[in-house]
This record gives sequence, structure tokens and C-alpha cells, in this order.
Amino acid sequence: MTVLVGMKISIREARAGDLPAIKEMDRDVVLFVAGLDSAKDLAEVSKRHEEIFERWFSISEQKVFIAFDEAKPEAILGFVWLINNSEQFTGIPYCFVMDLGAREGHRRQGIGKALMGRAMEYTKSTGCDRLKLMVNARNKNAIRFYRQLGFELEDLYMKKKV
Ligand SMILES: CC(C)(COP(=O)(O)OP(=O)(O)OC[C@H]1O[C@@H](n2cnc3c(N)ncnc32)[C@H](O)[C@@H]1OP(=O)(O)O)[C@@H](O)C(=O)NCCC(=O)NCCS
Repeated sequence: MTVLVGMKISIREARAGDLPAIKEMDRDVVLFVAGLDSAKDLAEVSKRHEEIFERWFSISEQKVFIAFDEAKPEAILGFVWLINNSEQFTGIPYCFVMDLGAREGHRRQGIGKALMGRAMEYTKSTGCDRLKLMVNARNKNAIRFYRQLGFELEDLYMKKKV
């Protein structure tokens, strides 16, 4: 348990019933990253986002943790979604942060840091010594956040519209 500005933040494993709140929290970020042109694209991406989330939740090599204030355990304040993977050529196992979010209005209160702390504990508990993630290059706030936690640039993921 972490005590933060007037709140007692705890982290627990997510349950299927948490999925709607997690999806809702993540939607704006997904749309920001998608960089869409029209309302039609937006509706289409929202629909796919929902379907993909539900599929993720049924994958066994994954773990989702959520953060909540002990005074209001029903309100989810953030989540981290992890997946176990292994390096393509060496087979060395690692954990990957598929997704992370702190609820708007509750950012800069240490929730993301507490969730990533739990993610690091989980990573070690699976026998891995590395935690990796991908972040959109336009998401400067998240990049600052990860750097502050000690993450360093390793690979460059490139894209070209064809
Ligand atoms: C990125 C995110 C999860 C960080 O969570 P958070 O709870 O707000 O972060 P914390 O309060 O734990 O921040 C810890 C430290 O990271 C750094 N940091 C966090 N957000 C920052 C920001 N917007 N700008 C600069 N530094 C930031 C600060 O050093 C901060 O410590 P400080 O507040 O004492 O200065 C949150 O901003 C978020 O949900 N963003 C939208 C979703 C997203 O982009 N997710 C990442 C997908 S890859």
C-alpha cells in the first residue's frame, strides 16, 4: 500500500468486472495515438479498441493490476497491463508493458509510479530481469514519466505510410 496526497493507494490484480472502467480510461489515449482524420474513423477505432481489449483479457500470459483508493475501492484510478514475452532471437524472457494509465484528474499523484513499481515486482517474480515497453514518440509526458523511472531508449520502431 502507498500513501499519496490524502489517499491510501493499493494495487490489486484486475478482475473481469474491472474491464469496462479500464477500457473507458484508456480510450482517449488510444484515440490520441491513432491521430485520426474523421468522426467515422474515430467510431471505427473505438469499436476495435473495445474488441481488442476483450481479447487481451482472455490471454493467459498476461497480468493486469489496478490502483484504487482504499477509501473508495470501487473507483479504479489506474491500471497497468503486462504480458510475458521472450526475445526474438535469444529467447531471453522479459515482461512487456502493453498499456498503462492513470485516471484523468488523478495524474501527477504517484499512481503511475506505484503501478510501475508493482509491474517491476511482478517481473522479478516471474524470473525475468527486464521490463520493456513501447511509447508513442508524440507522447512526451509518458516519455518523461518513463525516463524518470529509469527507462532508457533501446530500439527505434519506425513507420512509413504506403
Ligand atoms: C503516463 C502516466 C501513466 C503517468 O502516471 P502519473 O500517475 O500521472 O505519474 P506519477 O504521478 O506517478 O509521476 C511520477 C513522476 O513521473 C514524471 N511525470 C509524470 N507525468 C509527467 C508529466 N506529465 N510531465 C512531466 N513529468 C511527468 C514526474 O517526474 C513525476 O514525479 P513528480 O510528479 O513528483 O514530478 C499518466 O500521465 C497517464 O495516464 N497518461 C495517459 C496515458 C498514457 O500516456 N499512458 C502511457 C502509454 S505508453
